[in-house]
Amino acid sequence: MCGIVGAVSERNVVPILLEGLQRLEYRGYDSAGLVVGHGGQLERVRSIGRVADLASKCANTSGLIGIAHTRWATHGVPSERNAHPHISKNHVAVVHNGIIENYEILRSRLDAEGYEFTSDTDTEVIAHLINSHYARGNSLLSATQAALAELVGAYAIGVIASDNPDHMICARRGSPLLLGIGIEEHFIASDVSALLPVTRRFVHLEEGDVVEIGRSGYQIYDAESSRVEREIQISELSNESVQLGAYRHYMQKEIHEQPQALADTLESVCNSQSLVPGIFGAEAAQTFAETGSILILACGTSYHAGLVARYWLEEIAGIRCTVEVASEYRYRVSVAEPKTLVVVVSQSGETADTQAALNHAKKNGHDHTLAICNVAESALVRLCKLRMLTRAGPEIGVASTKAFTTQLAALFMLTLVMSKQRGRLSAEQEQKHLHELRHLPAAVQKVLDLEPQIAKLAEQFAGKHHALFLGRGLHYPIALEGALKLKEISYIHAEAYPAGELKHGPLALVDKDMPVISVAPNDALLEKLKSNLQEVRARGGELYVFADAHTHISEADGIHIMQMPEHAGYLSPILHTIPLQLLAYYVALQKGTDVDKPRNLAKSVTVE
Ligand code: AGP
Repeated sequence: MCGIVGAVSERNVVPILLEGLQRLEYRGYDSAGLVVGHGGQLERVRSIGRVADLASKCANTSGLIGIAHTRWATHGVPSERNAHPHISKNHVAVVHNGIIENYEILRSRLDAEGYEFTSDTDTEVIAHLINSHYARGNSLLSATQAALAELVGAYAIGVIASDNPDHMICARRGSPLLLGIGIEEHFIASDVSALLPVTRRFVHLEEGDVVEIGRSGYQIYDAESSRVEREIQISELSNESVQLGAYRHYMQKEIHEQPQALADTLESVCNSQSLVPGIFGAEAAQTFAETGSILILACGTSYHAGLVARYWLEEIAGIRCTVEVASEYRYRVSVAEPKTLVVVVSQSGETADTQAALNHAKKNGHDHTLAICNVAESALVRLCKLRMLTRAGPEIGVASTKAFTTQLAALFMLTLVMSKQRGRLSAEQEQKHLHELRHLPAAVQKVLDLEPQIAKLAEQFAGKHHALFLGRGLHYPIALEGALKLKEISYIHAEAYPAGELKHGPLALVDKDMPVISVAPNDALLEKLKSNLQEVRARGGELYVFADAHTHISEADGIHIMQMPEHAGYLSPILHTIPLQLLAYYVALQKGTDVDKPRNLAKSVTVE
């Protein structure tokens, strides 16, 4: 989704803006632009395509104040005229991330007032609206506040004006934005990574905040326009953690970071002798004691993590669990069960649908809420009573990898804590699970060692147009995740089914051109799965089976086996995810797609 960077400094801000935009590229975008103020003028440069194209057009551009943007098209096609910043009458420039829902009404009104529209975007109304208030003699701050009061929708914005070279205004509601604190310079950005080369001191803005930012200071106003202080936080992220290093792509790097990400996420339990609810927050013990069922809300890969957790929670903790796609739940009239704990799962913590689903749940009367999230300062974490932070570190590749496996680890810890609290976990079982969790990073490393074989296997997929993924039980969501990974980065049409469903329809698709990828753990459903695989083979389907040791599925004509290590019990879904991530990665390499920034997709989906 769109990325924002802004700076007001005593030095030329163009290199800061361009570097910041480059660091936000992972969010997904189709065009980029910046505007700087100098000598009472605004100078704008925009470009369709990559930030590098924009940079090449900026050789002679400089200024001590500026705002910049990467755009992910919502209103209006990707084009230079629709790229941000948008400027009203050469006077007020705006960058925006979010969606303005009432832009058509505002546009007609501003049209009638003589404002000329040069783009198809909703953002341009913000520029004209601020300008219309500014032209009436308001300060840039008051003009922005007055304009924001008229907007319906979500926004993070940066604003500068040609006749105000010393101040930038920013505001957020529903979309992410933070303030970076420097020495005699200040910055804004959609996330921390954009500003790491210039500062590690940040203020995370609250919903409705509006900020007037100068070189030597800033003032924050809350949604009621009262002056407020917000805490300055020092980011623990190192600049290196968002660098590619020796890897070819961020996705490859992030797949390989999983042992460490899991070890970090599990640190609190692995270093202790027993499981305590406190790892989810101070009020967790009380909340869990009152919990009668669980509702998990999430999107995409995070939704798949929720689906795995449902098997764990019902089987191990004996607690009823439903999992819903957030974008559906938010508009569904549902019956709220009292004593339900609502769990939102998200890498970014900024996904608009998940936020809206959480708010919908709260409106429905759910007040027990838990966020499982990878970004400590994100909206979802702040909106929930309880939290468990996954410690995957920054995930830059659009395809989620280490965020997923760490979400699974966090959800497994939730299962164990719930199970213990409900008297379903003996001391012996608790120690056994803790032992397995401690061993998990090493087990994942062992699976990563299969990389060369999977790279070889991927060669057979490059010419394929479709693929079918099969799994059963706990591993059905892993099949879903494998299919999602393959489709999003290799653009091969992939679908996943619980293997038992094959004969109810999808078997009709199976022929020699349809590769069928199966997750085959050595669990209670193995024999059932084997029968399903026979059904495929009997129709001439080519099978690719990721099989645990001792499954006795042998390599044969049309059956390719990728040998996995020992079966890992309840943690097996985490191990079986790894080869599917690697397979998608190497197939995408074969096909030459843009692995980290697949077409049409964005990393943080901050609009509906
Ligand atoms: C998966 O690879 C995707 N990038 C996507 O499905 C993602 O998981 C989804 O958009 C949810 O994002 P979140 O975890 O940040 O909420």
